[in-house]
Amino acid sequence: MNYKAALQNPVFKIISQSAKELQLDSYVIGGFVRDYILERGTAKDIDIVAIGSGIELAKQVANNLPTKPKVQVFKTYGTAMLRYNDIEIEFVGARKESYQEDSRNPIVEDGTLEDDQNRRDFTINALALDLNEDRFGVVLDPFNGLADLDNAIIRTPLNPDITYSDDPLRMMRAIRFATQLNFKIEDESLKAITRNNDRIKIITKERIVVELNKILESTTPSIGFLLLEQTGLLKYILPELTALKGIDEVEGQRHKDNFYHTLEVVDNIAEHTDNLWLRWAALLHDIGKAPTKKFNKKVGWTFHGHEFEGSKMTYRLFKRLKMPLNDKMKFVQKMVLMSSRPIVLAQDIVTDSAVRRLIFDAGDAVEDLMTLCEADITTKNPKKFKKYHNNFKIVRDKIVEVEERDHVRNFQPPITGEEIMQTFNLKPSREIGIIKDSIKEAILEGDIPNEYEAAFELMLKEGKRLGLQVVS
Ligand code: CTP
Repeated sequence: MNYKAALQNPVFKIISQSAKELQLDSYVIGGFVRDYILERGTAKDIDIVAIGSGIELAKQVANNLPTKPKVQVFKTYGTAMLRYNDIEIEFVGARKESYQEDSRNPIVEDGTLEDDQNRRDFTINALALDLNEDRFGVVLDPFNGLADLDNAIIRTPLNPDITYSDDPLRMMRAIRFATQLNFKIEDESLKAITRNNDRIKIITKERIVVELNKILESTTPSIGFLLLEQTGLLKYILPELTALKGIDEVEGQRHKDNFYHTLEVVDNIAEHTDNLWLRWAALLHDIGKAPTKKFNKKVGWTFHGHEFEGSKMTYRLFKRLKMPLNDKMKFVQKMVLMSSRPIVLAQDIVTDSAVRRLIFDAGDAVEDLMTLCEADITTKNPKKFKKYHNNFKIVRDKIVEVEERDHVRNFQPPITGEEIMQTFNLKPSREIGIIKDSIKEAILEGDIPNEYEAAFELMLKEGKRLGLQVVS
């Protein structure tokens, strides 16, 4: 089979020519070939294998390219990288690798193309296209990767115990590819992942999170989380989620399985947003339910304060996984903390003041919060499903209406502390806070409009109540 059509980018001819000048053989391998055959769009990364020095080939290519790009050399790995237009091209010499029990760092020797293909993770990632002039575009497929692509199967080239044990990150990669591509992991592979699951401990948190994010960014993230759970990997990575598994029953009263519910919520939200952090919020929105679960004879199962507990757990989880502790984390915390607020609203008659408070507390995240709450509706009762969605629609309309009128979204008090100090000739003191607070409360309650005049009036009234004198 010839895949010349995959190699239309002129850079491939330049690589081919450069390899010829160095009297090397070279091949495109891995994700580029896989994604071309799957028609997943043009790849931004190209991996090149040289039978010889990858670093030398990279330098030669850079020299032959019109843009003369800089070559970044990673000596310890024997690899080199350059950028051409917006494509990243990585060069590596064909290698034979063997790994040690307790480390990801392999012992590396020079090898043939077959050695190199052998040490790769999956048959679908071991496909190579020949770049040599007289065999340009010929596919080299020693492990039937093409058939596996056709049959939507993830399989390792070697015995899976060896492939996964060599680099345990591949267990996550298998699950990530299964999720992204909607492929099945071949049975022996799945068993090997389960057998080797504790080896995930030697992988750095950062690399695990890269895979988790890719699972979350997929169309149906639940595929990945179910596989992570089924293989026993999830308990090492996100024990907060495995803790949500199971249904308790006391005196005939049951609660829902919050793990499977969570996965439904994540799949739902994936249909409505590409925002990775909102997807994280969906994944974590119920994690506080495990530690707050209680049974009460009168009301049955309760999870009081699970939103607050969940938001504290979110911080600890981000920290443990070495995820950024920045505004993204704060956004996820806020979503988890507020995840029940619109639900309470939608169950009742929606008052303007309740909507103003919601907008005030959620700020710019108010739409995202509504998206999360809508995704949270997983009832299988079609009547209830419709009713809840209708109620949220009312809340959404009300949010627009109230915000247009009252502008509380990024609330700026109409009277500043400075003005209060000047009016009553005050030094910084408790009274200023009291007056500011009562103005804010009156606006949110709807007692006064969010306007300067009305706020000024109220300030005078509050000042009087506190026994303050207006300076003339
Ligand atoms: N590879 C591997 N084992 C790993 C990581 C990568 O064998 N743990 C090999 C695979 O052949 C893979 C290639 O290196 O195709 C490039 O890896 P990478 O760029 O991480 O993945 P891609 O397959 O290109 O896929 P994606 O870009 O979706 O991550």
